[in-house]
Amino acid sequence: MYNPFVPSFGNRPTRIVGREALVRSMLEGLKRPIGSRERCALVLGQRGMGKTALLLELAAHANEYGFIVARVSAGPSMLDDIIDAIQVEGGKLVSGTGTRLNNVSAGAFGFSVGLTFTKEVSESYGFRAKMSLLCDRLEASGTGVLVLIDEVQPNSDQMRQFAGTYQLLVGDGKNIAVVMAGLPSAISNVLNDEVLTFLNRAIRETLDVVSVGQVRAYYATTFKELGIAVTNDLLSRAAEVTRGFPYLLQLVGYYLVEYSGGESIDEEVFANAVESALMDLDHNVFDATLRPLSAGDIEFLCAMAPDGDVSTTAEVQRRFGGGKNRFQPYRARLIEAGVVCAPQRGVLEFTVPYLSEYLTRCYGNKT
Ligand SMILES: Nc1ncnc2c1ncn2[C@@H]1O[C@H](COP(=O)(O)OP(=O)(O)O)[C@@H](O)[C@H]1O
Ligand SMILES: [Mg+2]
Repeated sequence: MYNPFVPSFGNRPTRIVGREALVRSMLEGLKRPIGSRERCALVLGQRGMGKTALLLELAAHANEYGFIVARVSAGPSMLDDIIDAIQVEGGKLVSGTGTRLNNVSAGAFGFSVGLTFTKEVSESYGFRAKMSLLCDRLEASGTGVLVLIDEVQPNSDQMRQFAGTYQLLVGDGKNIAVVMAGLPSAISNVLNDEVLTFLNRAIRETLDVVSVGQVRAYYATTFKELGIAVTNDLLSRAAEVTRGFPYLLQLVGYYLVEYSGGESIDEEVFANAVESALMDLDHNVFDATLRPLSAGDIEFLCAMAPDGDVSTTAEVQRRFGGGKNRFQPYRARLIEAGVVCAPQRGVLEFTVPYLSEYLTRCYGNKT
């Protein structure tokens, strides 16, 4: 049985729900003149909010906007990976019959053939010089370079080098753009000045849950296409259970299809699917979200949990104990880590749906 739902990290969903406007506006931003602020974006969000899916969606459309894409994850080989990816992706333009790079003479400076560097360049040139050569060679056919960096780690040496190089390339008028994605906590660590300036200049997009209505519409179309019968009531309840959390949207959809046997979704199928989906959510999101936190952090979150998703600061402080001096640093750190947010004065909210339930289940009700 074909199941269009893919509840795993790092894949491109069959359809990207609720982010159409964002994708379009980001792509439009990349088209702005070289050096525009919109050409450098930073996407933040908790695990499962769809950062990687968003990058993949941008990658899928980048060609229409005149870019080849170099998609990499931050890490020790990031800079080499960027160069390799540009050569592979750009190389596709050179080879075959659709030679968009025709107008570039074969022996352009620094290249042996296509986008392959000469031995000298390959061995003794640095990242910036190589990028500069690649940008020029691609620009000759009106193609820009879009670098997508996933799992961004701002404190790394590679990010520092990338930030510096990007500014210089832009200064030199190269047709380059970049979209980075990462956990909110990755950005809040102490950063060196160069990376900080770079990230602060970037357009910042924080991914939140998508609308439940859009999830419902997506479910309705998908089940219909699959020929799976479902009542309007169960359809609404399935959408509501996801609370618009993209990863949960995939999980619930996946189990509904599996348990329906391709035929129909009844109360029993629904209940079993929700149970399986929430269990996977515990293991694949919450365990990982809480792992880097301290015992005090968890205690703070447990002081919020009895309220459900939204708490008043006063009440949390009372439960947490130890007065304002103890309370404030934890509050600030957890907001930085993106686990909770303060949508308005005196209010604290969990950023990930079901986290309060998870805490209550795992740590009990510590009121
Ligand atoms: N807008 C979306 N619509 C539908 N499914 C999505 C959407 N965004 C993400 N997903 C799905 O949610 C899961 C987690 O997404 P992913 O991009 O890997 O999260 P992140 O990188 O933020 O941790 C994947 O299964 C992905 O297909
Ligand atoms: Mg990801």
